[in-house]
Amino acid sequence: STTPVKVAVTGAAGQIGYSLLFRIASGALFGKDTPVELRLLEITPALKALEGVVMELDDCAFPTLAGVEIGDDPNVVFAGANHALLVGARPRGPGMERGDLLEANGGIFAPQGKALNEVAADDIKVTVTGNPANTNALIAMSNAPDIPQERFSALTRLDHNRAISQLSTKLDVPVTEIRKMTIWGNHSATQYPDLFHAEVGGKNAAEAVGDQDWLENTFIPTVAKRGAAIIEARGASSAASAASATIDHARDWTLGTPDGDWVSMAVPSDGSYDVPEGLISSFPVTVKDGQWSIVQGLEIDDFSRGKIEATVAELAEEREAVKGLGLI
Ligand code: NAI
Repeated sequence: STTPVKVAVTGAAGQIGYSLLFRIASGALFGKDTPVELRLLEITPALKALEGVVMELDDCAFPTLAGVEIGDDPNVVFAGANHALLVGARPRGPGMERGDLLEANGGIFAPQGKALNEVAADDIKVTVTGNPANTNALIAMSNAPDIPQERFSALTRLDHNRAISQLSTKLDVPVTEIRKMTIWGNHSATQYPDLFHAEVGGKNAAEAVGDQDWLENTFIPTVAKRGAAIIEARGASSAASAASATIDHARDWTLGTPDGDWVSMAVPSDGSYDVPEGLISSFPVTVKDGQWSIVQGLEIDDFSRGKIEATVAELAEEREAVKGLGLI
């Protein structure tokens, strides 16, 4: 069809936005035959910088870019949006406690959830990249009672892609040989990248590695702490890779996952794998006709059970904290 898909992006003048917008506009999200309209939200002081980014978008003359709207009012910018990529968030400042961070982000994601509830298109799908992503998604979801809960998700695809890359390097196989990677839980240092259900060339990945010490003491911490390693090396947090993962997530949620594979998405739990209902936790999911389903029936051994319980406990604590703050 030629009706443009409306994609709202928040934090559009930020680092991730600077990579993400150009990928979306060039057709990386829905293909070259689907025009997109960008609807870009920023805080008022960043609107001038955003105007500069829009000038550059214009200068690319992207055939798939049908229009760009910018503004600082979510009730205007989110109007008619089919996708919302919520990237803008409040970073943790020096001396900021976790409660302060959750409260500051509640001040962003509660009103944005309400605005989506009021003005987004009926088929809206929401992806939260801004940290703390899982709990920000929970806040937005809780403030949008008319939007079905399954339309809210948080990004763990960057962690998923990092895990694939680490395994590919370890075994010296192309990334295309790796299937069924899973990130469980929170997009934080407690996340659990799971090799026990992953496959390499059709064989079990943990067996192909055959080195529990590497798996526990190198692979898991390398994936979980990769964000900090990028900051250390680059002097700035991961941005192009985060944008790329955001595209992967929204594209697969829309166009589906390939047969014989799955992806990691943080979605509202239905109680699968004993993750308390309603927590936005990362699971292995397949997508068909624009709807995700949590992969069922995986056997979870004691090692994996302990790792999943730890990261889910952190999500439950974050939920209690934002409940205590009256944000949900
Ligand atoms: P950045 O600081 O460069 O950009 C954030 C932008 O958001 C700024 O331009 C700011 O003005 C804007 N913003 C703040 N409040 C806003 C609001 N209420 N409405 C609209 N825009 C608002 O940050 P960067 O590097 O682009 O990262 C964005 C977020 O993504 C951060 O929270 C970061 O921690 C997170 N992130 C998440 C990853 C993931 O895998 N889930 C990976 C990497 C980053």
